[in-house]
Order: sequence, then C-alpha cells, then structure tokens
Amino acid sequence: MYIVVRCQRVVRIFLPEVFAQKSIFTMAAGMISSYLVANMQTSLLFGIAFMTAIWYMRGPKNLPPGPMPLPIIGNLHLLAGKKNFQVFYRMFQKYGGICTVYLGRSRIILLTDINLIKETATKQADNFSDRFLPPLLAWTIGSEGSLFFQNGPVWKERRKFIMQALRNFGVGKKSLEYKINEEARCLMDVMTGIEGPFDPSEYTTLIIANVICNINFGRRFDYTDESFKTIVDKFRYLFGTASLTGFANTFPFLVRTPLYRQLTQTIQYMISYVGKEIKEHQDSLDEGDVRDIIDMYLLEIKRQQESGEEVIFKPEQAWRAIMEIFGGGTDTTTNTLLYGILLTALNTEVQDKVQEEIDRVIGPDRQPCCEDRTNMPYTDAVLMEIQRFRPVAVIAPPHGVFQDTQLAGYNIPKGIGNVQMCFKVVLLSWTS
Ligand code: HEM
Repeated sequence: MYIVVRCQRVVRIFLPEVFAQKSIFTMAAGMISSYLVANMQTSLLFGIAFMTAIWYMRGPKNLPPGPMPLPIIGNLHLLAGKKNFQVFYRMFQKYGGICTVYLGRSRIILLTDINLIKETATKQADNFSDRFLPPLLAWTIGSEGSLFFQNGPVWKERRKFIMQALRNFGVGKKSLEYKINEEARCLMDVMTGIEGPFDPSEYTTLIIANVICNINFGRRFDYTDESFKTIVDKFRYLFGTASLTGFANTFPFLVRTPLYRQLTQTIQYMISYVGKEIKEHQDSLDEGDVRDIIDMYLLEIKRQQESGEEVIFKPEQAWRAIMEIFGGGTDTTTNTLLYGILLTALNTEVQDKVQEEIDRVIGPDRQPCCEDRTNMPYTDAVLMEIQRFRPVAVIAPPHGVFQDTQLAGYNIPKGIGNVQMCFKVVLLSWTS
C-alpha cells in the first residue's frame, strides 16, 4: 500500500511540472500514470503472493500438510468468527489426522487421530511431553510452579507429587465418594426448596467447586457464601478467557492494553485469594493432621528444606498448582455434568432407562458408589456417550517437541513451537 501511494505521488507531482503547458501531454501523462499505478498494484499483489510462497516453502522439509498461510496472520483468518474445532474438523477431512497450521507466526502440528495422539503419550512420550506456554499466559503469569505449562525435571517431580496428592485426597477412592455424595445431598436439599423452573448451571458449578475445595482447602462452602460465589465466578471467567488461540497469543502486547485489563485483574485477585488460604494453612500446619493438598504441599516444602536436597517446591509458587487443580477440575466436570442434564432431558427414553437401572441396582435406600458401575452397563454407556458427543476438553493444552522426530512419516522438528491435540475432532470422527 505504501509503495502504491508513493508512486501515485511521484508520478502525479513530477509529470505535471514538466508537461503542464501542453494538454496532449497532460492526457498522456494521465494515461501513463494510471498504467503505472495499475501495474504497481498488480506487482505488489504478485510480490506478496511470491513472498508468501517463499516464506511457506522456507520451513523444514516434509512437514505434515496443511492450508497455505498468509504473511503475519498465518491461518488465523480461517478461524476468525468460527469455532476452532469446526475449522479443525474440515482440516481433518481434507488433510487427515495430522496437519500443519499457522496461528499467526506460531506453527503448530495439529493432531486429530487417536492412534497418533496415543503414540505421543506412550512410545514417543519423551519427545512430546514438553509443554508450550502460550504467549498470553507467558505475559500474564509465566510458567513458574505450573502443572500444565512447565518442562523439565522440576515439572516432572511436581506433577508426580500432585498426582500422588490427588490420590491421597481421594481421587478414585472411597473418601472422595463420600464427599461427592455429601455434596449431592446438599444439592438435593437446595433444589427441593426451589419452586418452578430454574437454571441448574449455577448449582452444578458450586457442587463441583465444593468437591475440589474439599481436596484443595480441606473444607466445603455454603452455597449462599458470597465470597465462594465470587471466587467460582472469577475462576470460570479466567479459564474461559485465557483461550489458547486468542489474539493476544499472536500479538502479546495486547495483554498490556485495556482489552485484557479484566483478565490481569482477575489473575491478581485469584493469586491473592489462594495466597491467603496458603498463609492460613501455614499458620495452623500440623504434621499429624494433613487436611488437604495445601498441607501436603507445605509439608513437602518443609521436608525438602530440612533434608538439604534441592528445594523445588517453593512457598511463593504454591498458589499456581492449587489454582490449576481448581481450574482443571471445576469447569471440565461442571460442563460435562451440564451436558449430561441437557442431553438426558432431551432424550427422555434414555433418561427412563437410566432411572430404571438406578432403581434396580441402587434402589431408594442408599447412595451410589463406584462399585455400582460394573452392574450398570447402560448408565455407564450413557455417561461415556455424553463425553464423546459433547467433549468439554476440545483442545488439550499445547505440547512441545523435545527433539527432532517423526510422526506418521512426517518430520516434526524440535522447537517447532507446539503440538495441539483436538479431542473434539477425534471424538466427532469416532463413529464406530
Ligand atoms: C470431565 C472432566 C475432565 C476432563 C475432560 C479433563 C481433561 C484434561 C486434559 C485434556 C488434560 C491435559 C492432558 C495433556 O495435555 O496431557 C488434563 C490435565 C490435567 N487435569 Fe484434567 N480433566 C478433567 C477433570 C479433572 C479433575 C476433576 C481434576 C482435579 C481434581 C483434573 C486435574 C488435572 C491436572 C492436574 C492436569 C495436569 C496433568 C498433566 O499435565 O499431566 N482434571 N485434564
């Protein structure tokens, strides 16, 4: 554009000075001027196309196929105004379960084939386990202390510890079953008190958040507690806004503009809230009574400090893991439950069959437990179909590539930025 404007000025200023006296020359000058401008525009467009092709072909050889990117924005224009997974589904149909996509300047390898995804998690786990920190998060909270977005031995240790801590506090165990049943009872009490139709999303979020609060903070909150509601709202806002393909990932400076002010303020609020909880736990820490994950985290820090080994768990980073467990567990489980409610409400014949199985296997006199699952194949299948039909983790957090490798016969270069797995496309294409 700049060149065209310059040329127009040069031609239009220069020519009249020389030929102003003669009208035939003025006409000729006008024609030459238009010809030059028209050709400049064509040349410019051709130049852009040429540069794009060079830029596109300059990359590593034998990458997975994918749509032609434009300069600066890559393939972002294909995503604009559409749901990511719809665009990715079309790419799956056109290029197969592995393709190359450009989100602005970042090149990603998009995986939508279950066997390739399995390979990255098993046979090639060492090559594909690195996490990629999206610029939006890098500019807002960084990666220190993160379960999702850090790499290397420290991350591995922290992740191992947190997985163990989650198991200790009941994930997959009877103790958590008890807490879930307690929450379900509280919810039933509230619901039976409501007259007329109501929106189940608020209470669904609160019960799930309470189960996670039990694991993290060692206690549940009353549904009417305003500070609890605020914290849940802010978490939901945070995880809804920090999109992995948001524009701030391509233009990170936007994070410093008013566009992202609410996001940065929410992050600060959450850090200070979780920080306050950690401080209270520090003040009342008792090794003989480990109440929750925060206590476990603090005791692990103490153990590392006292044993003289490298302290990889730092008190000032503890908020991050706690916040990520809350974020990773709350929205995913809440939305899965909400889809369950919606889909069974829309399919009453399915609802009737599930109810019949519940009445027959569990009956009216006791709460359900995990062991019932094996005796309830229909309900189990319905729960799995809900998660297949409406998966809530549409795209997994990006993974990085540790060293040059190959997948499905294509080259996957080290430091390619990241690998993304779109589970929704996997599940949509999984019809058998
Ligand atoms: C329907 C429910 C859930 C879904 C769909 C879901 C989905 C996911 C996905 C896609 C990942 C990323 C895996 C990867 O990139 O390798 C993940 C990681 C994680 N999730 Fe969940 N999740 C759910 C429930 C939960 C719950 C209830 C908790 C905790 C209480 C939790 C805690 C975590 C943690 C700590 C990680 C990080 C582990 C790692 O990086 O290896 N998730 N989840």
